[in-house]
Amino acid sequence: MSTRSGVVAHRGASAEFPELTLVAYEQALKQGAEALEVDIRLTSDGVPVLLHDPRTARVADRDVWVHSSTLDELSTLDLGTWHPVHRRPEPLLTLRSLLVMAEAYPNVKLFLETKHPVPSGGRVEVALRDELKYFGLDRPASHLESRAVMMSFSVMAVRRFRQLAPQVPAVQLRERGNVLKSWPAEGFGAQLMGPSIGALRARPWLVDYWRSRGMGTYCWTVDDPADMLLCRDLGVDWVATNVPSRALTVLDGP
Ligand code: G3P
Ligand code: CA
Repeated sequence: MSTRSGVVAHRGASAEFPELTLVAYEQALKQGAEALEVDIRLTSDGVPVLLHDPRTARVADRDVWVHSSTLDELSTLDLGTWHPVHRRPEPLLTLRSLLVMAEAYPNVKLFLETKHPVPSGGRVEVALRDELKYFGLDRPASHLESRAVMMSFSVMAVRRFRQLAPQVPAVQLRERGNVLKSWPAEGFGAQLMGPSIGALRARPWLVDYWRSRGMGTYCWTVDDPADMLLCRDLGVDWVATNVPSRALTVLDGP
């Protein structure tokens, strides 16, 4: 059958570099990652930026709410010095800057996760669609050929995005607690299911189940070599990892 699982750099090469920064993505690409994973939130002035948490405390030199800060305010943050290995300042990355950088890598896929706290209710999916349109990524020849793939834990967000950009495929993310609620998977309108590695370890048969319904599997976050091999053996399509260099070595090995 198939080619091996593709390696997705989760928030970039984020074990070695500060997550969601340009340096983390550039290094992941240098290491050979075949796809990038991205978390997207909206600033108060409606700009899609790359931050995982609703507040910045974990990764910045100041703690602010993302949804109530402007792009200018967030651009003054240092998102690099906190990192235990990197320890150097890094600026905030906008989705647009990432997509500009990614234009030089046309074969690299982009797994774009909308984070959707109540305050942005739906606007982040619209902003993502608009950015994809700006870069001509909203009308791929087919789902399989699409460089961009939308993702969300929210069933509503996936549905909403698929209505906004029907030609762009989506991953319905699932955690261990709710993975079985994905049995009527076709109903979500996603082309791939996205279980955590914990969910997949507990129910490895789900990969075949989804495949039999025409859906692929994207598994996160897979840093342990044994888990990488499990994904490979199950035929998982995409493996998201904080250590892309390790995943490439393990998955290409015997
Ligand atoms: O790749 C999906 C995964 O990133 C979902 O979890 O919390 O890391 O965004 P989280
Ligand atoms: Ca994510």
